[in-house]
Amino acid sequence: MEELRKDDPITAENADNNEFANYDDEAEAGREAEERKKREESDRLLPPDEDAILEVRHLKKYFVLKKTLLGKPISSLKAVDDVSFKVKEGETLGIVGESGCGKTTMGRTVLKLYQPTGGQIFFKGKDIAGYKSKEMRALRTQMQIVFQDPYSSLPPRSTVGDILAEPVKVHGIVPKSQIKEYVLSLMEQCGLRDYYYERYPHEFSGGQRQRICIARALAVNPELVVCDEPVSALDVSIQAQIINLLKNLQKKRKLTYIFISHDLSVVKYISDKIGIMYLGSMVEFGNKKEIFDNPMHPYTIALFSAVPNPNPDEKSEHVILKGDIPSPVNPPKGCKFHTRCPSVMEICKHIAPEYKEYEEGHFVACHYCEQALKNKENV
Ligand SMILES: Nc1ncnc2c1ncn2[C@@H]1O[C@H](COP(=O)(O)OP(=O)(O)O)[C@@H](O)[C@H]1O
Ligand code: SF4
Ligand SMILES: [Mg+2]
Repeated sequence: MEELRKDDPITAENADNNEFANYDDEAEAGREAEERKKREESDRLLPPDEDAILEVRHLKKYFVLKKTLLGKPISSLKAVDDVSFKVKEGETLGIVGESGCGKTTMGRTVLKLYQPTGGQIFFKGKDIAGYKSKEMRALRTQMQIVFQDPYSSLPPRSTVGDILAEPVKVHGIVPKSQIKEYVLSLMEQCGLRDYYYERYPHEFSGGQRQRICIARALAVNPELVVCDEPVSALDVSIQAQIINLLKNLQKKRKLTYIFISHDLSVVKYISDKIGIMYLGSMVEFGNKKEIFDNPMHPYTIALFSAVPNPNPDEKSEHVILKGDIPSPVNPPKGCKFHTRCPSVMEICKHIAPEYKEYEEGHFVACHYCEQALKNKENV
């Protein structure tokens, strides 16, 4: 039987050729769920990677939208749906994707600010996914978050000194008598003048406020920091200063970052590894160089093509994605990207592609990439 090629329309002439013409998508979805479960169960037994400070396996976070009277979920939104990755100590993992693809939910779930629906989260070798709030309390100082909006994330009636002293007191980071000195040193490291100590957040610009937020996150000496779009609300002229501050602090304190952004140039500058998310799933993941030199997933290629190329001698083709992002409440069957993918094939509409390692550490979930690799091997 001759296989349908990409973009071949299903017509009367080729309907017989279409192995998916009478395909039972519901049955396939059931099979797929079974296979996924089996894979997860066997992965669950694997020991954590000793080199990774954070290893996430098959992470899921579903928000229940509707329940029966007995509390059984009727409909849910799969904000994070089977995401896996690893980060080493001192590295920055950049997470990219359009708004609503689950970046924030993923970051918060990794820090256990949301209880995961499923999956494993190994932090320094221990699976914290099932930890209760009491067990998490001891880890809170080791994992922190910097939010996108520095305007709403600071208490308006506290001085900078009080804002920064609060977590130091709560977690007993230094003896009481040394708190002020500790806070002033922290302020200096974050580029804040000592006389800001008595001032209030409203007296500062966005950039200065974000410095205060960064200082507050670092006050408890964390090892892992989720930076959720930390520069997106700032003027472009200020963004570089904050990014450089984060980079310097990372070097001095051996911090590991998960850096969430929809801005590829920022992610390219700061990251060691990059993960690309679409509708709750990680579609491509790998080292920065590998991802930028050899993007494989059609969504990654489309995202990259939207960034203007500063080199006029290099020809760059802008891939325009058709349609809007589908609703995560009712995502498309098969590959979730198939409604917008320029390389869509018939199989993509029915069977979800597996997230596979193509080169060492370079993972992609795409049928087209799988076929291209097979064709290459057969040549
Ligand atoms: N608390 C919540 N309850 C229900 N749905 C949510 C909640 N938080 C986020 N979502 C939904 O989850 C999806 C992912 O959101 P989010 O993680 O904020 O994406 P991103 O950060 O990539 O913009 C969106 O469709 C959003 O509407
Ligand atoms: S699996 Fe198919 S639809 Fe999905 S990204 Fe690959 S080619 Fe496109
Ligand atoms: Mg977000």
